[in-house]
Amino acid sequence: MEVLQRKILPLLTLLSSFLLYYYLNGSRTSHNGCSLLQHSHYWIKSKRIVTPEGIIAGAVEVKGQKITSVLKEKDWHEISKGGHVLEYGEAVVMPGLIDVHAHLDDPGRSDWEGFPSGTKAAAAGGITTLVDMPLNSFPSTVSEETLKLKIKAAEKNIYVDVGFWGGLVPGNAFNSSYLEALLQAGVLGLKSFMCPSGINDFPMTDVSHIKAGLSVLAKFGRPLLVHAEVQLDSTKESDLDGDDPQSYYTYLKSRPPLMEEEAIRQLLTVSKDTSPGGPSEGAHLHVVHLSDASSSLELIEEAKRNGHSITVETCPHYLAFSAEEISEGDTRFKCAPPIRDAANKEKLWEALVIGKIDMLSSDHSPTVPELKLFGDGNFLSAWGGISSLQFVLPVTWSHGRKYGVTLEQMVRWWGEKPAKLAGQQLKGAIAIGSYADIVVWDPDKEFYLDDNYPTFIKHPSISPYLGKRLAGKVFATFLRGNLVYKEGKHARAACGVTILA
Ligand SMILES: *[C@@H]1O[C@H](CO)[C@@H](O)[C@H](O)[C@H]1NC(C)=O
Ligand SMILES: [Zn+2]
Repeated sequence: MEVLQRKILPLLTLLSSFLLYYYLNGSRTSHNGCSLLQHSHYWIKSKRIVTPEGIIAGAVEVKGQKITSVLKEKDWHEISKGGHVLEYGEAVVMPGLIDVHAHLDDPGRSDWEGFPSGTKAAAAGGITTLVDMPLNSFPSTVSEETLKLKIKAAEKNIYVDVGFWGGLVPGNAFNSSYLEALLQAGVLGLKSFMCPSGINDFPMTDVSHIKAGLSVLAKFGRPLLVHAEVQLDSTKESDLDGDDPQSYYTYLKSRPPLMEEEAIRQLLTVSKDTSPGGPSEGAHLHVVHLSDASSSLELIEEAKRNGHSITVETCPHYLAFSAEEISEGDTRFKCAPPIRDAANKEKLWEALVIGKIDMLSSDHSPTVPELKLFGDGNFLSAWGGISSLQFVLPVTWSHGRKYGVTLEQMVRWWGEKPAKLAGQQLKGAIAIGSYADIVVWDPDKEFYLDDNYPTFIKHPSISPYLGKRLAGKVFATFLRGNLVYKEGKHARAACGVTILA
């Protein structure tokens, strides 16, 4: 008996201290495959951490899913450093990007993208949260039942967090109990089109539908996102008879800035309902993917001045490309509203930099290569939508450097403002109590998006960014404390969660 005690007790003590060690270091996370890291308590150290109080040299402490402290370098020695240290030198440490506008086409058209490849691409691009659009999947997300199909398709298939917008369509706009059921089931807000969407089960709305939708959204304090283009009598397809469908200018002519301007003009007759004291106070209007940097933007400015609750986003492709550089038949560049001329691009940058445009989104809208009709290069009949998801961080940065874009602005456009739109208070900032959703990247590292580059979107060949030289390479992406991506490799398990309001 005594022998037993002498030999076994020390062994047991040793064993339990091992167990305690592994427990504290969180090898639990590595066992379930969610993280490429063996630790759940660690520090991310760098000379450039972008916080709401500015850029600091220091360290971010992560425990479990959350950020538990943010220390400046000078205070680093003062603390008793429990936990593992990840040293990132000069690399930028900032909140993971939040993309409020992506079409992952799942369920129903997962051959176009799908949750697994789309969210792997997001993680590789430093995006930790995306909000999926209600159309291009089948069925569209326009009811409580179809939202449930979305959630089911996403579960265990997503490598980053995914929320959902519901669709506001003529079939549900005037039925408030139906819309309430959709909102209660967890969509973060609604989305509608003021022109044909290109998808049969997602018909367009007019201002009367939008007005009705806003009154329901007001009760939930959630936004309505609007594709703001309307068809004009002067832009009927018949007017293009005889124009070369392979010429980008034919397509551009079919969607003039006036389509955006006129839609926004109509929108402002109902956005006033969101003003303080208005019938839909609490609701919010958000204009998606603005392309026209002229009158449309002035109208939005006027609405903001008048107290309407309204914001606007644009997308990297409007900031990276101009009509002048789009070749005959190169339908990779087709999207709606269209990419306009170089002068418009300059004005978009100006508006973004001074804060007239609130935020950015990818509007990643892929399809199968066949529907891009590369063979005949017909701009009028090819699928409209730009494939970009994984590249938005380096694209924004590469082009933005010329305009003096700062790291703080990158965080405002891709973190802070989108988090607010999507109602995610615990995301979009390197701050105590926030989720440890973090991207680590090198703004100076340049690379070619060629065949050697690890791309994860399902159909890289349809992306207009392929072959481009970009600056800003993602090293590592953390999602809720899990290291989900590191230098070309993802964690084994898909541990993103569905975000329901
Ligand atoms: C409104 O939706 C509810 C389900 O939420 C349905 O029972 C009802 O028939 C609908 N009303 C109309 C007028 O379509
Ligand atoms: Zn879209």
